[in-house]
Amino acid sequence: MKNILLAGGAGYIGSHTAVELLKSGYGVVIVDNLSNSYHTVIDRIEKISSKTVKFYEMDTRSADLENIFKENDIDAVVDFAAYKAVGDSVANPLKYYDNNLLSLINMLSIMAKYGVHNFVFSSSATVYGDLDIEDLPAKEDHRLSTTNPYGTTKLMGEKIIKDAWFANRDLNAIVLRYFNPIGAHESGMIGEDCTGIPANIMPYLTKVAVGELPHINVFGNDYRTKDGTGVRDYIHVVDLAKGHIKAIEKLFKDQVGVDYYNLGTGRGYSVMELIESFSKACGREIPYKIGPRRDGDIDMTYADSSKAERELGWSAEYDIDRMCQDSWRWQKNNPRGYEE
Ligand code: NAD
Ligand code: WQD
Repeated sequence: MKNILLAGGAGYIGSHTAVELLKSGYGVVIVDNLSNSYHTVIDRIEKISSKTVKFYEMDTRSADLENIFKENDIDAVVDFAAYKAVGDSVANPLKYYDNNLLSLINMLSIMAKYGVHNFVFSSSATVYGDLDIEDLPAKEDHRLSTTNPYGTTKLMGEKIIKDAWFANRDLNAIVLRYFNPIGAHESGMIGEDCTGIPANIMPYLTKVAVGELPHINVFGNDYRTKDGTGVRDYIHVVDLAKGHIKAIEKLFKDQVGVDYYNLGTGRGYSVMELIESFSKACGREIPYKIGPRRDGDIDMTYADSSKAERELGWSAEYDIDRMCQDSWRWQKNNPRGYEE
């Protein structure tokens, strides 16, 4: 059995990836400092999959990370460990550079020391920066730029991986650029746990649906889109999780050096369309107010994921209604998230 180390594997995308890996017969080791997750997640992964997970509560910047490689036979690493809040990164840039980059550097160094070469990195569509409508759908070879420190950590992370490969051609890495992950596992047992006022649209909608927040503020309706509201490529987190398995399988099969793949559905939905689909899913009209644009937002983005389809044999299966139904089930079953 091949063992996959998931750094940040107790988080939203990592936990869903753990479930899919276990389902596919892989062994899963998780390292997470629980800075944005809970120990309960590990129990739930085990419950859903009826398999056990080896868990290390540890910061991946720590020198102790090495112990995981001493104690386990790791065949590939997926690195999800990062802070991800765009607004917070503008207010606290050094916190983001410190965590997101030092954790990556430590991981790559220790992997090299222990002869582990297969690496998957969580990047983001944010590395495409200010996309113009004419640039869509975004392809992997599009010019890269960023608009906030969080995004810059992802772009720098990509460059660090490339430089590490220049110096050591054994490294075999796939960078996955996720578009907008939403949804949750169909069991309703794991999902996105968001404390405080959510910055992203889906956790905001779920909190309006349960009456924790009065309405959703729609950030602008004068964009160059079908109904004037922002358009994004929402992707079901389980589809995303499956993309990681395809990437790992590719690394086991081929020496790729460093390669890059978009993971999106290739379809954009507007804020109003998402509100409509989510209202259907939760069985009540979600109240909304049109407000001003949010600083830094772009009109529209959606992925060209044809490279992933061609080379990884991956494409997204779930549609927007299913994404909303699964997000809603998670919220309904866990009104306070993982908090007990
Ligand atoms: P998340 O916050 O739910 O998961 C990240 C996990 O990493 C958390 O469990 C956190 O506790 C852990 N972590 C953070 N720093 C750590 C450290 N130094 N040591 C050990 N553990 C640490 O976020 P997510 O949505 O699952 O995102 C996973 C990855 O995907 C991140 O790298 C994120 O930047 C990237 N990404 C996320 C999105 C999104 O919208 N969710 C989009 C594109 C890319
Ligand atoms: C989606 C749409 C908003 C909230 C972010 C990060 C990106 C990536 C994914 C990590 C936009 C609108 C939102 C609200 C709204 N993360 N909106 N009211 O900004 O596309 O991407 O998450 O890598 O880096 O920037 O996602 O969910 O915040 O916004 O109208 O209360 O919903 O304007 O059009 P975004 P989002």
